[in-house]
Amino acid sequence: MNLPNMQEAKIRGKQKVNYLKHEHNYEPVFKGKKFFLKTYGCQMNVHDSEEIRFYLNSLGFIETQDMNKSDLVVLNTCAIRENAHDKFYGFLGRCKHLKRENPDLIIAVGGCMPQQSNVATTLKEKHPYVDIVFGTHNIHELPKLILEKKKEQDIEVYSIEGNVYENTQYIRDSKITAWVNIMYGCDKFCTYCIVPYTRGKQRSRHLKEIVSEVEELKKKGYQEVTLLGQNVNAYGKDLSKDESFANLLTSVAKTNIPRIRFVTSHPWDFTDDLIDVISKYPNIMPYIHLPIQSGSNKILKLMGRRYTKEEYLTLFNKLKTKIPGVSITTDIIVGFPNETEQDFLETLDVVNTCQFDGAYTFIYSPREATPASKMPDNISLEEKEQRLRRLNELVNKYSLNHNQEYLKKIVKVLLIDKCEKEENGAFGYTETMKLVNVKDAIDYIGQIVDVEITDAKSFSLNGIIKKI
Ligand code: 5AD
Ligand code: SF4
Repeated sequence: MNLPNMQEAKIRGKQKVNYLKHEHNYEPVFKGKKFFLKTYGCQMNVHDSEEIRFYLNSLGFIETQDMNKSDLVVLNTCAIRENAHDKFYGFLGRCKHLKRENPDLIIAVGGCMPQQSNVATTLKEKHPYVDIVFGTHNIHELPKLILEKKKEQDIEVYSIEGNVYENTQYIRDSKITAWVNIMYGCDKFCTYCIVPYTRGKQRSRHLKEIVSEVEELKKKGYQEVTLLGQNVNAYGKDLSKDESFANLLTSVAKTNIPRIRFVTSHPWDFTDDLIDVISKYPNIMPYIHLPIQSGSNKILKLMGRRYTKEEYLTLFNKLKTKIPGVSITTDIIVGFPNETEQDFLETLDVVNTCQFDGAYTFIYSPREATPASKMPDNISLEEKEQRLRRLNELVNKYSLNHNQEYLKKIVKVLLIDKCEKEENGAFGYTETMKLVNVKDAIDYIGQIVDVEITDAKSFSLNGIIKKI
């Protein structure tokens, strides 16, 4: 058993990164057996699940959407907020019940939660029916853990990890759009955030490996890649001086893959060079997710965000000026320790100024071992919920306003999949990342088509294919 120690995370900065290559050599010994995989959390977890699927498939398992018919349940967990914990434990109760009926059922828990030492202990003490516990750094060990399944709960979680593996294989959810990891971990240590503890220090992949993955995807017919990292525009800061996200993006743009996106950007690392690259290449989509978190300088400082409201606004205006038609979304936390009504009003004020295309809004949730968890969580839940409601009302108003600007316009939409809401319909995204449900478009899935927008709601658009 290898339990993680969250306090170690700060020391990890000095640790050397090893660049290694996965060897894949599996026997399909579970041929005919079924697995059920449930994924919680962010895009990083969604992409990790694509890696998990590859291993399970290689062992002979096939996927089922019906947990009751499965021989193996894998839960890929999220630790970002307490409600992610609650949802997970609720679901684990169902797994326990299933195991009573089928004692041969294997239950495996992975992802960010086991990276927290208290979770590993809780699983051991209170949920002994869980067979396998693994973390974010050793997904590749899952086949070994399943093959050697022990009688007692087997916890294998790497607490310190300085490895970057190449030759990672995936069974991707889509044949049209693909996630591409460009880096792992985060060095920012925002005071509320558990990610640097669960995902480790920043480790960038080498540029040539990323570009060759994109080239491979393009050859397979993929239309879009999303470059993935907790803090993508800090890419390369842990490599040589010449490596930067602007350079990487230039190289990826030159592959001529039709669409390139990237998430998530930190305002502190957004350079002018990067803005120039985004505006120069038409296959880099004019969409930026740029979390602000709060509009109060006092709270931003307490959060350790490294920028002021004024600096954020300067960057925001630069992006709007230099990248024509860019859409910008953000993340906002309400109810951070010591956030007064005045601080919250400053957040509303920034939302009024920026009029974001959209925002993911959250109630602050104290996370174990983060500096903010030692600050007084001194805003009542009622107050936090009330602030969230007020914020969402404003955010939704601007989302709707932006969407209404699309009415009667013809826009390019990459169609991703069937849309249940419309007969023969398909859904897709504009260059600016607006979700569009398109009528009679099922035959065009996988293509970028011209769509005339006929209806606009807060969270989606409707449209029809425009034949030119
Ligand atoms: N409480 C609430 N929201 C959080 N986020 C990260 N940590 C917390 C927390 N402890 C939000 C931030 C981040 C997004 C992914 O999740 O807004 O940008
Ligand atoms: Fe967490 Fe993002 Fe801050 Fe990193 S930059 S610590 S992932 S909020």
